[in-house]
Amino acid sequence: MPESLSFGFIPFARPKGVLVAFCAENLKFGTATRKALSPVDDLLRRVAAADRFTGKNGSAIEIVAPSGLDVPRLVVVGTGKGGELKPQDIVKLGGVAMGKIPAAAAEATILAEFASGALKGDQAAALALGAQLRAYAFDRYKTKRKDDEKRPDKATVKIACANPAAAEKAWVRGKAIADGVVLARDLINEPANVLDPAEFARRASGLAKLGVGIEVLDVAAMRKLGMGALLAVGQGSAHDSKLVVMRWNGGKRGVAPVALIGKGVCFDTGGISIKPAAGMEDMKGDMAGAASVVGAMQAIAARKAKVNVVGVIGLVENMPDGNAQRPGDIVKTMSGQTIEIINTDAEGRLVLADMLYYVNKKFKPKFMVTLATLTGAIIVALGQEYAGLFTNDDKLAERLAKAGEATGERVWRMPLGPEYDKLIDSKFADMKNAGGRFAGSITAAQLLQRFVDKTPWAHLDIAGTALGSPQTDINKSWSSGWGVQLLDRLVADYYER
Ligand code: BES
Ligand code: MN
Ligand code: ZN
Repeated sequence: MPESLSFGFIPFARPKGVLVAFCAENLKFGTATRKALSPVDDLLRRVAAADRFTGKNGSAIEIVAPSGLDVPRLVVVGTGKGGELKPQDIVKLGGVAMGKIPAAAAEATILAEFASGALKGDQAAALALGAQLRAYAFDRYKTKRKDDEKRPDKATVKIACANPAAAEKAWVRGKAIADGVVLARDLINEPANVLDPAEFARRASGLAKLGVGIEVLDVAAMRKLGMGALLAVGQGSAHDSKLVVMRWNGGKRGVAPVALIGKGVCFDTGGISIKPAAGMEDMKGDMAGAASVVGAMQAIAARKAKVNVVGVIGLVENMPDGNAQRPGDIVKTMSGQTIEIINTDAEGRLVLADMLYYVNKKFKPKFMVTLATLTGAIIVALGQEYAGLFTNDDKLAERLAKAGEATGERVWRMPLGPEYDKLIDSKFADMKNAGGRFAGSITAAQLLQRFVDKTPWAHLDIAGTALGSPQTDINKSWSSGWGVQLLDRLVADYYER
């Protein structure tokens, strides 16, 4: 798709550009769609038969320059059995539809009607959300484009629906979410020679234009606070560490905020415990937790949510050099607890430990959620379908599970417990930063818990869900932006009911 893609909502009318329509199984169309496609009724039936297209959910047929219709291309997308579709299914269908609109097209119209009837405003907006997510591509560094990849500078997708005004209203929220996901994906895809801690902090500071309060702490400020663990991770890097605090106060004055905390390791070489070369390039995405927090803050602020949220991201680069920390080093955290460094590649928990303590103490939040590409072990356990959820609070677990099912960003609860906690006891310090081969994701979470106290807290290990994402109907990019939709929903459900 083009550099700039916009969505508009119009009444059912003469379609412009590529036309996308929906049908249920057995080529069942809604009334308005059937009317619009009546000139090509026979042609459609023949193409469908030739292609064995029946309208199964997510399948599609295309007719180029259909005679009888004044459009360059007609696409029909199947919606399946025709029963009630969940919002998440409609988002997916928006993605399927967008996937069928050629990159070169400057104009397209999607008829927002299923066999069961016209889509409501929020459903039409869900289509647009899926379409925008599907259209995302990170290609700003590709300077050569083949002829068939040429794209217009601007493209518009019109969504023809029964109530454009209601759809337009629902799209304020949909677009806020889509833009938040896109921002997160961009940050994650950006290479580490461009997105170092300072540049990341600058981009996060861009949220000020939406009314988000921004504070950037530099190394001196963090040293003063005693953040010895976070700073130890960045001490081998040529780039100074940063901590960014983003505040959105859309809720009642004086009501404690919800805290979202993200791991922002702009590049993770492993440090002195250096990683093998194969696949190390993926570690430019080790800041995905921080990216999701920034994306969620953008979504929450852009839709002017009536909530109080604080987003905090720790931005560091884990490099090996003469100043880098060593295995055996002992660092002192802001909480006063000491950590023996066993493996400098277990750096994310060090960054999160100081942030957790700082946020808890400074903001006394209702609850805290940490997001981090924390362990390879969570990929072994859960693959790329679920993020690992660790929490000290059953109610929060329930809220996250529910928000996960609603958005498709699903979480699976993992255990915590004193038996696991023992695995990070140290001979020399209060704890060690790596617990050995067993239960790698759990021992990482146990370390975090030592910095939480009694505040409800949930930790999401997103190493599997955020990077090297499988191709889906709503994402073709290496990064998924996982967590933006989940956090937005979690916060909304918490305050708005
Ligand atoms: N950033 C990595 C975890 C990771 C691995 C994220 C693969 C995404 C994809 C993390 O900092 C790390 O290196 N963890 C180590 C911990 C170990 C040394 C205790 C791991 O998982 O191997
Ligand atoms: Mn690491
Ligand atoms: Zn890491």
